[in-house]
Amino acid sequence: MAQALAEAGAEAIALLDIKQDLGEEAASRLSSDAQIPVKFYRTDVRDVDANNATVEQIVSELGAIDILINSAGIVNSNIKAEDYDPDMFRRLIDINLTGSFLVSQACGRHMIKAQRGGSILFISSIAGARVLHPQQQCAYNTSKAAVVQLANSMAAEWARHGIRVNTISPGYMDTQLNEEAMLQQQMSFWKSMTPMGRMGKPDELNGLAVFLSSDAARFVTGSNVFCDGGYHVY
Ligand SMILES: NC(=O)c1ccc[n+]([C@@H]2O[C@H](COP(=O)([O-])OP(=O)(O)OC[C@H]3O[C@@H](n4cnc5c(N)ncnc54)[C@H](O)[C@@H]3O)[C@@H](O)[C@H]2O)c1
Repeated sequence: MAQALAEAGAEAIALLDIKQDLGEEAASRLSSDAQIPVKFYRTDVRDVDANNATVEQIVSELGAIDILINSAGIVNSNIKAEDYDPDMFRRLIDINLTGSFLVSQACGRHMIKAQRGGSILFISSIAGARVLHPQQQCAYNTSKAAVVQLANSMAAEWARHGIRVNTISPGYMDTQLNEEAMLQQQMSFWKSMTPMGRMGKPDELNGLAVFLSSDAARFVTGSNVFCDGGYHVY
């Protein structure tokens, strides 16, 4: 999605992640491909002070923030609700939901102060609208449903500041998130539950992310768009 924004004319990009090596490598690759400044900032989305400090650092090093995409997330699948460790449940909600809130709050405050409007995108999941199966993952499904309502709430509150807030709900995508051994075995079932009969490729979210982040979507806020090969129709 960052690459697609660069291709669509973004002037600079900040990549935030907890994984230092992966982030630095991605930033340096994107910067050399797109020929724009791309910087990596190591952040744990759960850390309030670090998020605020990172936003200040980005603004001073790259300029005002006009677009935010909240994508950090973990899944923890194949755990029955009756066995779910409460600390693991809290940790997942902390990363997927509270983390998305904290980063959006830090960027939203900056956008409101800068009076330039902006676009915030949340990456939820079909898991926010359907209980995915056969894998049991009550915490993940719950976090992704809550993310949609968080986005709707921010859309309502921040429309008066010219800030649009939307959600993309991807179906099963072929990324590291699904590399757990057990999930690999469940993939053929997921494909059978998807009208298009396959997993999505990560770059199949790109056009939608660019559209929702751009002025072409200037009357679109509080929307949740599925990008899932039709999974949600069943
Ligand atoms: N892959 C799928 O099938 C799928 C489907 C629907 C939605 N999603 C959502 O898409 C988003 C991106 O997932 P992905 O598939 O690219 O997986 P991914 O594992 O490649 O990316 C998730 C990233 O989040 C980062 N992260 C985790 N905890 C963090 C923290 N505390 N602070 C900062 N960064 C942290 C990870 O280091 C990782 O780089 C997630 O929110 C995921 O729930 C994925």
